[in-house]
Amino acid sequence: MKLIILGPPGVGKGTQTQKLCLAFGMTHISTGDILREAIKNRTKLGEQANAFMTKGELVPDDVMLGIIDEKLFGKHAPVNYILDGFPRTIAQAEGLEKLFIVHKVQIDAILLLDADVRKIIDRLSARRTCRNCNAVYNLMTNPPKQTGRCDACGGDLFQRDDDKAETITRRLDVYTRQTKPLVDFYKKSGNLRIIPATGTPDEVFQNIKKELIGG
Ligand code: AP5
Ligand code: MG
Repeated sequence: MKLIILGPPGVGKGTQTQKLCLAFGMTHISTGDILREAIKNRTKLGEQANAFMTKGELVPDDVMLGIIDEKLFGKHAPVNYILDGFPRTIAQAEGLEKLFIVHKVQIDAILLLDADVRKIIDRLSARRTCRNCNAVYNLMTNPPKQTGRCDACGGDLFQRDDDKAETITRRLDVYTRQTKPLVDFYKKSGNLRIIPATGTPDEVFQNIKKELIGG
């Protein structure tokens, strides 16, 4: 299976992608995680991306398309994967279509997670992420067993720089202007599935499974 998971910042894309990967043995390709890793390792890509990310703005399309081309069709290309955080603009979606045509690949479904803004702001403000394995927690709804430590690997939990109140507002605005138009773009493909994402993570996961495999 090849999937795209779409939706505003904080709606639960990473959380649901981790569940899907565990359940169906797929590879998680999160462009946000790739960029954060590059920043941590102080690479050229990291330097380039940092200024955009801390402001809550998008990294340029050509940079992102280069990353995705390498990830999906480079040396260690996965067969079954979920794209989390990509595409994020019409230009990225068109670039991705071109790559799929060249490599004769088809996407099985585009999942759009849907929740209201108040819920999203609450979720982002309380999010903590593992520095080591990228596992996602929430101080209100899914706290780690030991404060500041990842249940899965014992790594350090941290709050993302872009989860501060003013940057959250900016990211939501960027989503509305630059990413939301993808909903109409993918509606035309007939592969878009709208998933209610206001329940608990397990309830949302059930909603996704129902759409994908009917139960
Ligand atoms: P990215 O890392 O992709 O961030 P995002 O899209 O803003 O989304 P988030 O990761 O913040 O949220 P999420 O939907 O994954 O939610 P999560 O599961 O963590 O991108 C970051 C930046 O990188 C961008 O701003 C941009 O600068 C750059 N970038 C990345 N890709 C790019 C691209 N293609 N082009 C250009 N620039 C790009 O959940 C959030 C919280 O809620 C967690 O605490 C979680 O535990 C909790 N939670 C989740 N589900 C539920 C639930 N059902 N009930 C209760 N709590 C829940
Ligand atoms: Mg995420």
